Amino acid sequence: MRRKPVEVLVAEGGQGEGGTLRRSLTMWQLTMISIGATLGTGIFVVLGEATPKAGPAVTISFVIAGLTALFSALSYAELAGSVPVSGSSYSYSYATMGELIAWICGWCLILEYGVSVAAVAVGWGEYLNELLDGTLGVTIPETVSAPLGEGGYVNLPALIVILLAMVFLMGGAKESARVNTIMVVIKIATLLLFCAIGFLGIKAGNYTPLAPLGITGISAGAAVLFFSYIGFDAASTAGEEAKNPKRDLPRAIMLSLVIVTVLYCMVALVAVGAMPWESFEGTEAALAQIMKDVTGHSFWGVVLAAGAVVAIASVVFAVLYGQTRILFAMSRDGLVPKIFAKVDAKTGAPRANTVIVSLFCGTLAAFIPLGELANATSIGTLFAFALVNIAVVILRYTRPEMNRTFRVMLFPVTPILGFVFCAYNMYSLPGLTWMWFGGWMVVGLVFYFGYGMHRSQLGNAPSELATAEK
Ligand code: ALA
Repeated sequence: MRRKPVEVLVAEGGQGEGGTLRRSLTMWQLTMISIGATLGTGIFVVLGEATPKAGPAVTISFVIAGLTALFSALSYAELAGSVPVSGSSYSYSYATMGELIAWICGWCLILEYGVSVAAVAVGWGEYLNELLDGTLGVTIPETVSAPLGEGGYVNLPALIVILLAMVFLMGGAKESARVNTIMVVIKIATLLLFCAIGFLGIKAGNYTPLAPLGITGISAGAAVLFFSYIGFDAASTAGEEAKNPKRDLPRAIMLSLVIVTVLYCMVALVAVGAMPWESFEGTEAALAQIMKDVTGHSFWGVVLAAGAVVAIASVVFAVLYGQTRILFAMSRDGLVPKIFAKVDAKTGAPRANTVIVSLFCGTLAAFIPLGELANATSIGTLFAFALVNIAVVILRYTRPEMNRTFRVMLFPVTPILGFVFCAYNMYSLPGLTWMWFGGWMVVGLVFYFGYGMHRSQLGNAPSELATAEK
C-alpha cells in the first residue's frame, strides 16, 4: 500500500533512462491529442449500431454518454492540473491509493490503450477495404486481412497502420503532435463536410417519432456510445511533454470533450434527419451512404470513407502515444522493465518503448482474434475512470492545501456521480466480458507479485518515502 508522494512524482517528471522527455506541447496540441484519441470508430461506425437501438433520439444517447464522460473528465482535469505527469490515472492512483491499486490501474490502462489500439486498427482495415472497394473496386483478400480463426492468416492492414504510427512516433513529441494535428484537422473537416451536405437532405418526418423504443432504447444507445468518448483522457499522458502542464492539461481535457460532444451531436442530428432511423440497421458505413444518397454521387461517399480512414488511423496514433507514455511512467517507478523509460537523447522520444509497444499491439491486431478481449477494454477504461474519481476525493482530504489549477465543481457530488456512473456502466456489461476482464486482472496480479513488487523503485527507497511523506 506504499504511496508515492505527489511532490516526488512531479519532481521526477520527464526523467528517463539516459535522457529526458522534451517539453514542447502547447494547449492546442494537447487538445488535439485528446481529440485524436477520441474521435474515430465511435462516430464513423458505432453511430450506425446505436441508431437502430435509440431511433432518432440517438442524439440524446450521445448527450447521456457524454455526461458519463463529463463527470470523470472533471476529475481527470483536476488531477492532471495537480499531478501533471505522464502516467495519468496510474500515477494519480499511486499518489492516493498506493502501489497495488496503481498497478491494477496501469494494467487496466493497457486494456484501454494497448488492447484498444489493436481493436481500432482492425476496424481501420475494414474501413480501408470499403474505401478501396469504392474507389478501385478491389478489396484486400481475407487471407491477409483477418487473423487465424477468422478466415485468414494475418491482418496486414491492421499491422501496417500500427507500424506507420510507430514510425511517426519515433520522431518525438513535437513531431508526433504535428502529424496528429494534421489528421485531427482532416477528420473534423470531414465531419463538418458531412453536416453541410447531410443538412440538405434532412426531412422533418425522419425525426418522428423521436424515441420509438422509449427510454430503454435511448439508454441502450448511450451504453454503446460510451465507447465513442474513450480517449478524452489522452492529453493527461502528455504531462511531461507539455510546456505548461498545470495550466494547459485541464483546459485541453475539458475543451476536447466539449468539441467532441458538439460534433457528435451535430453529426447524429444530421444523420438521423437525412436517413430514416430504420435504414441504419444493416448499413455498414451509414455516413458514407448518406453522402451518396443526398448528392446522388458515389464520389462523396468515397470522400467520407477517406476521411474515416484518416480519422481511425489518428485514433491508433494518439492512443499508441498514450500507451508508450503510461508505460514510461510505470517503468520509471520500477514496475515494468527499465527499457520502457529509455529516452533517445537526439529526439527525446522513448524509442525502444515505442517499438516494443507497437510490435506488441501490431502482433495482437495481426494474429489474434480479439473478440471478447476487445470488449473488455470498456471495463478496463471504466475501472480506471472510477479510480480517478476516488483519487480526486482522497487527494482533497489528504492534501487540502495543494495548489490546484482546476477544481471540480460541486465537490464531492461530481466525483461521486462520476464513480456511480462508471460502476453502473461496468455492471451493465455482459458476464462474459467480466470473465475476460477477470482473467486479464489475474495475469496482471501474477506479474506484479512476481516482478513489480520486488523491483519497485519506491519499495527499494524507503528513505525517500520517509522524507517526502508527511
Ligand atoms: N473513442 C475512440 C473511437 O471512437 C476509441 O474510436
